[in-house]
Amino acid sequence: MIDRPTEADIPGILSMVAHAGVFTSVDVECVGELLDDYVHKPGHGGYEFIVDREDGRLLGLACYGSTPLTEGTFDLYWLCVAAEARRGGVARRLVAEMEADLRRLGARLLVVETSGSDGYRPARAFYLANGFQRQATIPDYYAPGDDLVVYTKRYGEA
Ligand SMILES: CC(C)(COP(=O)(O)OP(=O)(O)OC[C@H]1O[C@@H](n2cnc3c(N)ncnc32)[C@H](O)[C@@H]1OP(=O)(O)O)[C@@H](O)C(=O)NCCC(=O)NCCS
Repeated sequence: MIDRPTEADIPGILSMVAHAGVFTSVDVECVGELLDDYVHKPGHGGYEFIVDREDGRLLGLACYGSTPLTEGTFDLYWLCVAAEARRGGVARRLVAEMEADLRRLGARLLVVETSGSDGYRPARAFYLANGFQRQATIPDYYAPGDDLVVYTKRYGEA
């Protein structure tokens, strides 16, 4: 079941992100700060979070939001599925729910940035399997040998 996280979910979410196998402690800290904004700031601090759970167990999360200084462009900032729940359609469900929300919000373009490294191979496969297009690569962006790969998806256009 997909719903919105509450403050009580934060420790579980951070543990899931920390055990995802690809994220650094700085990434986990960043997700923690965004969640803090989400639950405490008016307008959620500009970030939207959704989680998928089954029998109270957290299976995955997505974080997205409107990209500042653009018209109808949104970013998918974080997408993570618990290691033991992968390949069961959790990310597909989260993205479908996010997209329903994006359409309500009048989104035109969704951008997602990921890494070209081996650990992100499932993420790259996921985006291609879900209607995203690979748009750009910036070599050595994250670190020497660790490229930035940008995917986009358009909505509401012929
Ligand atoms: C990427 C990630 C979110 C995918 O979540 P998931 O719930 O396993 O994905 P789904 O089960 O919804 O997969 C949907 C489709 O994506 C593709 N896909 C997903 N994982 C894949 C993999 N490891 N290899 C190849 N294709 C894959 C498949 O086409 C899959 O459909 P299928 O299972 O019917 O073949 C998950 O692997 C993850 O959390 N990885 C670590 C964190 C991460 O990289 N996040 C993205 C950061 S940008």
